[in-house]
Amino acid sequence: MIVLGIETSCDETSVSIVQDKKDRGKVLSEKILSQVKKHQPFGGVVPELASREHSDCISNLTRQVLDETSLNLDDIDGFAATTGPGLLGGLLVGCNYAKGLSIITNKPFLSINHLQGHVLISRMKKKINFPFLCLLVSGGHSLILLAKNFNKFKILGESIDDAVGEAFDKTSKLLGLGYPGGPLIEKLAQKAQREKKFHLPRPLINDKTMNLSFSGLKTSVRRIIEKNISQSEKADLAYEFQKSITECLLKKVNIAMDSCKYYKIKDFVLSGGVASNSFIRNQFKSLCLVKNINFIVPAKALCTDNATMIAWAGIEKLRNHKIGDRLNTHPQPRWSLESI
Ligand code: KG4
Ligand code: ZN
Repeated sequence: MIVLGIETSCDETSVSIVQDKKDRGKVLSEKILSQVKKHQPFGGVVPELASREHSDCISNLTRQVLDETSLNLDDIDGFAATTGPGLLGGLLVGCNYAKGLSIITNKPFLSINHLQGHVLISRMKKKINFPFLCLLVSGGHSLILLAKNFNKFKILGESIDDAVGEAFDKTSKLLGLGYPGGPLIEKLAQKAQREKKFHLPRPLINDKTMNLSFSGLKTSVRRIIEKNISQSEKADLAYEFQKSITECLLKKVNIAMDSCKYYKIKDFVLSGGVASNSFIRNQFKSLCLVKNINFIVPAKALCTDNATMIAWAGIEKLRNHKIGDRLNTHPQPRWSLESI
């Protein structure tokens, strides 16, 4: 089975072709065109600009992946597109493009939830049985969830305000760094010399729920920066910021691991753009070692937005459902994992 996936929910246009091989996935070709530079002057993603960019390059990227694999459209068994959550303009571009390809080839159209793509990509290279526990940390979402099936998820905890990636991005702006902020803060934190110079709060750390909160952290960072700190102190602050976020995440995932004992969870998956952070990856690796749970994290390029995860989720869907989704399926800018 070969599925072509399309991702256009935010500021990356991506097309990928993935083949189902012995239950795992082989990427035949993947293209990602980042719009980061176009949005950089505005300090964040401009929705109108994003949808125009997706519209301008989707055909070329599709042509390129087909050429690279020497496949024709007729060789593809299904066309998967992100249909939410995300920016409506971008979702419409990718979703309608996939529907068009589905109509001309008479092959299934597969509507994929972006978050489902982030969670399931961990299963592309390695067999991970359901149920497994997952921490999904991206620019728009911070979720601790139980993946019960390829399309059944139970949210155990989530951020009550800013998502983790959003907190990185906003703090990066405060520190005078660019966008996206996560990789820049990670790099700056590596230069920290006095790791205990600053102390930031650990929001909700003593709360018994699995919910998270990050908006207060940003305010604390702002107060410190207003005192005009030096460049080297900014590195110390970036380190403390990353540490505070990581400690909050570890604490809540720890609670989730204990509360899921009934399910005999064997695997923990870290996913989403923030999962490409090495400091966070290492800390979770250690937690899993202590808890005697397998630690799984996708390759860094598969943590941030990409169409391979959409194509792979399409394969999982087609394997289970055999038929595609209706062509009148509409994009949903807000679409909870629990209502797939
Ligand atoms: O999953 P993703 O690519 O897009 C969304 O679905 O949101 O995640 C993007 C987010 C951005 O907020 C970005 O700053 C963050 O992931 N991110 C990181 C790192 N790389 C990307 N955060 C922390 N450390 C990183 N190395
Ligand atoms: Zn994402």
